[in-house]
Amino acid sequence: MIRNASLRQLKVFESVARNLSVTRTAEELFLTQPTVSIQIKQLTELVGLPLTEQIGKRLYLTEAGRELQKVCKRVFDDLDHYEMLVSDLKGMKAGKLSLAVITTAKYFIPRLLGQFCQRYPGIDVKLKVTNRERVLERMAENLDDLYVLGVPSEDPDVVFEPFLKNPLVILAPSAHPLAKQSGISPAALAGESFIMREAGSGVRLAVEQFFKERGVSLKVRMELGSNETIKQAVAGGLGIAALSAHALVLDRTSDDIAILDVEGFPLKRHLYLAYPQNRQMSVVGTTFLSFLKQEGVLFAEKYLQGLESIRRSNDGLAYWGEDQGQPT
Ligand code: PGA
Repeated sequence: MIRNASLRQLKVFESVARNLSVTRTAEELFLTQPTVSIQIKQLTELVGLPLTEQIGKRLYLTEAGRELQKVCKRVFDDLDHYEMLVSDLKGMKAGKLSLAVITTAKYFIPRLLGQFCQRYPGIDVKLKVTNRERVLERMAENLDDLYVLGVPSEDPDVVFEPFLKNPLVILAPSAHPLAKQSGISPAALAGESFIMREAGSGVRLAVEQFFKERGVSLKVRMELGSNETIKQAVAGGLGIAALSAHALVLDRTSDDIAILDVEGFPLKRHLYLAYPQNRQMSVVGTTFLSFLKQEGVLFAEKYLQGLESIRRSNDGLAYWGEDQGQPT
């Protein structure tokens, strides 16, 4: 009976199921490979069905294995939650905080985390920075406590709370002829070499939608998976690109880059804090959420002054209006 399984056996199984490798599990848990194999064998005997199967060199989970993996996830999530609750009762916030954020958020989330970790030194933080599609996948897999996204999904089971402004701007090398023009029509960009983020990126989604709605097709010269690389490519004269203004704060390449005054830009967007509606959030997750809502807003005001100074460095460009309108 599975009830007789030990937590240690479940822990070993959880690692094998995640890594699909006895070797990696042994490394991860500081065990020998025979110890891992024995634990899995004992667990298999308790279940009475194989949990894994070896096909060629690869290890797969059987259906019984996949179901047990889900059970393990629930058990360990509950234990983590309980641990945080107890720490909370003891009056010290401790535990693990796991965040997945889109690339635009990497420019300020680490700073907020710095303040947060100073206040709660007992909390271990894991931060995953990736694109929108991958953040949504992580959310579907329930891998993290909290998510930050620039373009909400349609999923009714997810709460999206607008958090910070996230304007999208069009960049060009400062020597580009369009850099001196104002009121550039979107159609005028059709002939330009465009540097685009990879498929799955929220920035790309927003750019494609903007130009599609106006019947403009862009000439994509290059696809790059990082905002930083795109910035350097623009500075190096490879083309024009759209990026979140957050990517320009604290930037040292700004002299080589101009923000173009294209009609419709800066595109008014927001960043959203997101979390599944029906999942009980960990105590640490809730603590971080309320920290972001209180401190994050104060921080954002200061931080956005950085954005404001970019505006001022671009003469005559209505880059950052007072009213950013409703979250879109
Ligand atoms: P991305 O999202 O990293 O998926 O492009 C960034 C944004 O939407 O601002």
